[in-house]
Amino acid sequence: MTEPYDAIILGAGAAGLMGAARAGQRGKRVLVLEKSEKPGKKILISGGGRCNFTNIHAGPANYISANPHFAKSALARYTPRDFLELVEGYGIAWHEKTLGQLFCDGSAQQITDMLLAECAQGAVEVRCNADVTAVEHDAGRFAVMASGQPIIATSLVIATGGPSIPKMGATGYAYELARQFGLKVVEPRPALVPLTLGGEEVLFREISGVSAPVIATANKTSFAEAALFTHRGLSGPAILQVSSYWRPGDPVEIDFLPDGGEGWLLEKKRENPRATLKSLLREALPDRLADILVEKIGLETELGNAPDKALRAAEQRLSRWSFHPNGSEGFAKAEVTMGGISTAELSSKTMESKRIPGLYAIGEAVDVTGWLGGYNFQWAWASGVAAGDAL
Ligand code: FDA
Repeated sequence: MTEPYDAIILGAGAAGLMGAARAGQRGKRVLVLEKSEKPGKKILISGGGRCNFTNIHAGPANYISANPHFAKSALARYTPRDFLELVEGYGIAWHEKTLGQLFCDGSAQQITDMLLAECAQGAVEVRCNADVTAVEHDAGRFAVMASGQPIIATSLVIATGGPSIPKMGATGYAYELARQFGLKVVEPRPALVPLTLGGEEVLFREISGVSAPVIATANKTSFAEAALFTHRGLSGPAILQVSSYWRPGDPVEIDFLPDGGEGWLLEKKRENPRATLKSLLREALPDRLADILVEKIGLETELGNAPDKALRAAEQRLSRWSFHPNGSEGFAKAEVTMGGISTAELSSKTMESKRIPGLYAIGEAVDVTGWLGGYNFQWAWASGVAAGDAL
């Protein structure tokens, strides 16, 4: 029988590798068990292969959770600047793309390599192709059956992420384990996910590939970014962002005139009565989108011939266009999973279970979900550090 590990971390993703490195470098004996053939697979495909590894503006307000205060402590103790310092320490070149989103200049592989180098510095053992079939807890120790072998540790960290993109090997194993240990799970659902259109709105599918800067709103939360029409409905950053706030049956409102203040159309009528709504919209939006919006509004005449009331109504419709998505593209296309292991079960300082000492949960497995733009990795790093420093 080998000496027990101080900690077994299930999942060699962003949170698991970060937590393992921190604990290992504090002298803890750490084993990471990863189901797939290689570590950090989601890191590798993230940010279009360049990994949007953090967001310089990340703060608690950028996260959704049943307890919006839960993430504060970990986020305050490990900040985007801390991660950036680590990245720079490895000489990884980076750039800010937009809205505080930081990406590698080169490849996401650099982030995985960096985390593995950090793990190696802490003499962490990372075992891939590990088939975890059972976990038992007895007399303050955890026994993990992996590939037919029992492995013992004094702590167990659930870092198996969420079920978004199952094609990549993502699983809901975290919830299975949580339930085994009697921890509450907030219902998981797809987030940062494209929404689908049906009924009369299928018309918009005809402009698949067209995108425009808009303000999208769902449940009183708005994002000013690009929206993209797809052959199934709506996507693009603005839509992915609001999808996390959208619930089936809710409308999504889109302001197609983010730069046109109130009274814009009447002003245009005075300035240029020969102009048409179509010609004006074509200046602000892609032609195919402008055409379809005008077709739906049914205002083809020159502005000078249109009653002010009709122009006011058209402007209002354009600034609050109500789409009624009939669903989302689900976990198959969701960038993250909302919900997960309830924060009520965990210490916000250490991520340790309040009821089962030695059991921890970090990263996407926990009911903390970030906006699009590097926020989810920042949560993975921060929660990984919180646990790694406490193990
Ligand atoms: P993560 O999913 O990274 O790791 C979990 C690990 O556990 C995986 O390696 C998995 O194989 C393993 N596992 C699962 N079940 C297991 C089991 N039973 N036993 C052992 N191991 C098991 N975020 C961001 O901030 N910036 C970005 O650019 C992107 N881009 C992006 C693109 C795409 C396409 C997706 C799908 C997601 C993103 N994200 C993102 C989100 C980000 O990838 C995600 O939030 C983090 O990877 C979560 O880190 P975790 O370590 O919690 O889970």
